[in-house]
Amino acid sequence: MSSDISISELVANYKKGYSLDQQFYKDPEIYKKEIENIFLHHWILAGHSSQIPETGDFFLFEFDSENIIITRTKTGDIRAHLNVCRHRGSRVCLEKKGTTKAFTCPYHAWSYDLSGDLIAARIMNETFDKSENGLHQAHVALVGGLIFISLSEKPPSLEEMKKDLADVFDQFGFDHMKLIKQKSYPIRSNWKLAVENYQECYHCAPSHQEFAKIHAMAMTPEKFAARKQDYLKNASSDIRLKPSSYYFDQAIKGQEGYQYDRNPLVTGKVSGSLNGGPVAPLLGKIKDYDGAASEFMVGPVTFFLIYNDHMIGYRFLPLSLDECVCDVFWFVHEDAQENKDYVLDNLTWLWDVTTQADEEIIVNNQKGVDSHFYQPGKLSEMEFFQQHFLNWYLDKIA
Ligand code: FES
Ligand SMILES: [Fe+2]
Repeated sequence: MSSDISISELVANYKKGYSLDQQFYKDPEIYKKEIENIFLHHWILAGHSSQIPETGDFFLFEFDSENIIITRTKTGDIRAHLNVCRHRGSRVCLEKKGTTKAFTCPYHAWSYDLSGDLIAARIMNETFDKSENGLHQAHVALVGGLIFISLSEKPPSLEEMKKDLADVFDQFGFDHMKLIKQKSYPIRSNWKLAVENYQECYHCAPSHQEFAKIHAMAMTPEKFAARKQDYLKNASSDIRLKPSSYYFDQAIKGQEGYQYDRNPLVTGKVSGSLNGGPVAPLLGKIKDYDGAASEFMVGPVTFFLIYNDHMIGYRFLPLSLDECVCDVFWFVHEDAQENKDYVLDNLTWLWDVTTQADEEIIVNNQKGVDSHFYQPGKLSEMEFFQQHFLNWYLDKIA
């Protein structure tokens, strides 16, 4: 700890209803604890199965000092291998994505098959047991085509979420989507400032003009409540309306935290596009537009916004104490064809401008938090969800 105060004292000193003390964003020991207790334990979105359709296809997933090879084996399974050679630890795979028959370490040429088993190790004596030297494996879970991984020995269960939201995954056709674009937005800030920013829409009206024209959530709480009531009263959609709030400090014990909700757009808008009009063929079993979008969140850093005709995935990952990355994923129905059924720039426009604006406000937030004069400030009622994150977070590192 860089000062005399311990982490548990810092946690105990936290005043509910306020932002965090500066040290939570600056202390290397706290960061180390976050990596261990949060990022090496919980489920994180690694990518989508449409990125690796064929045997031997792979891509790398990385954060902090971890690097994981996500690949498809001969049997069609998706596996996640730690990209750490079992000889002396070199990165085995250096290409960010590609197709291969085996992964051969560039250092002394130990070679691993697609399942991660060591298949060749030059000039090792006969007592050396290859079968004990396969690549370490991360847990893999699929939610439709979404690939989640956990680096924990015993990850939290996803079963409750899968059972509870089976209707949602069916309605939106989670098994029948494809990833059409992924874009990384590096942010010079501690990862928590990025996640906290995602948890509140207090900033939406002043910072996201484009978003505010489409999403009712940017309205004041009173106006939003009225709009939501109006939407629910008239909802004729066959998409699930019932929310599920088992997220962050409300998670069921032993289960990964998750949340589902459906919220109205601004009256007259139907999707996340320049004019709020449709941008792609309807997803899954959806028959029409109903002027709303669903939110689905699972694990601490993976969030989805599901319009009737496309889905956005958001993932925040720490790169170091004061640097993180926001990855945005755009999904459409697997049958949709570019330039016939959708135009990529139109479909990605809203969340590209919104994420660029977020990047700027988060970086400015970090600059102020770095000041000698920063002190925890009072949260607004529109930041109640950020409070759930903070409660959970403090419990995690306490
Ligand atoms: S470190 Fe990989 S073969 Fe030596
Ligand atoms: Fe934002």
